[in-house]
Amino acid sequence: MSRENGFSNLPKDFATPGSWFLGQDRRYVVAEERTYVKRGTSSKILKAFDLRNDMVVAVKTLEEDAARDINYRSMLFREGRAMSRFNHPNIVKFYDLVMERKGEINTPHIIMEFVDGESLLDRLRDDNQGPMTPDEIIDISFQMASALDYIHKEGATHGDVKPNNILKSIDGAVKLTDFANSNFVSLKNARFFSPGYSAPEMALDRANTPSTDLFSFVATVYALVHNALPPDVAMKIEPQFLDIRRYEISNEANEGLKALFRKGMAFDPSKRFYLCSVFANRFANLFQNAKNL
Ligand SMILES: Nc1ncnc2c1ncn2[C@@H]1O[C@H](COP(=O)(O)OP(=O)(O)OP(=O)(O)O)[C@@H](O)[C@H]1O
Ligand SMILES: [Mg+2]
Repeated sequence: MSRENGFSNLPKDFATPGSWFLGQDRRYVVAEERTYVKRGTSSKILKAFDLRNDMVVAVKTLEEDAARDINYRSMLFREGRAMSRFNHPNIVKFYDLVMERKGEINTPHIIMEFVDGESLLDRLRDDNQGPMTPDEIIDISFQMASALDYIHKEGATHGDVKPNNILKSIDGAVKLTDFANSNFVSLKNARFFSPGYSAPEMALDRANTPSTDLFSFVATVYALVHNALPPDVAMKIEPQFLDIRRYEISNEANEGLKALFRKGMAFDPSKRFYLCSVFANRFANLFQNAKNL
């Protein structure tokens, strides 16, 4: 594919022999995997170019083995349908759901906004960048809370809030992605849980509620504050709280933060905060004067 083929607007990453077309009208040019690929457990994220709208997009589709399984195909289809119902600056924007037929198998591809940046998991694992500043963590918390309170108002849950499913773009926007475990996909019960981040009632009874999301949100903020992932942060079903010694912070603020995390990750869902933004506001008030040591 090249200028000679008529795609004068096609960036060079997509104009290689390994790229391929997607969609009945060959509207999406998918870049070969060396350009960009992120592998999940059964799915992968690729980069594509939308010839009609002249922009880079992300494609979520299934790995080959999973694509042979009707359950995986229908769940990915439902994930696309779930995403299509949201419209919020802190949720990855859904564009299209494209089916690709290979023989008897029709595989869904979710076309969505490409977030140029990194997941919070990549950020936490990157030793070169050092720990986040308190201001950055507060900013992420507010943006996350806004997305989560919004989907809950819409009757949805996310079901898998954790650093790998939160993207931060280079311009600072925080975006929630991966609705594979949403109640809009599985109807009622959670399909899976993530150790360290999932609420106890999700692990025990497959509950999938705004309150299980709130638990995971608070656990995520806890991981950011400690610059560590479970099990390092020792988040068990009844979390054992560490002192927050990473920061120059008053004893009073330290005690306040511990109480806040304890409430957000309470074993009993009725003891937790009602809204994610309530947690985010209180967290910001206590954490705003903190300084990295
Ligand atoms: N819209 C996007 N733009 C850019 N990168 C993305 C986008 N969506 C996902 N990614 C990247 O791909 C990774 C995996 O995406 P996603 O979580 O949707 O897949 P998954 O198969 O459900 O993964 P897992 O099983 O690990 O949760 C993300 O952590 C992120 O790094
Ligand atoms: Mg994921």
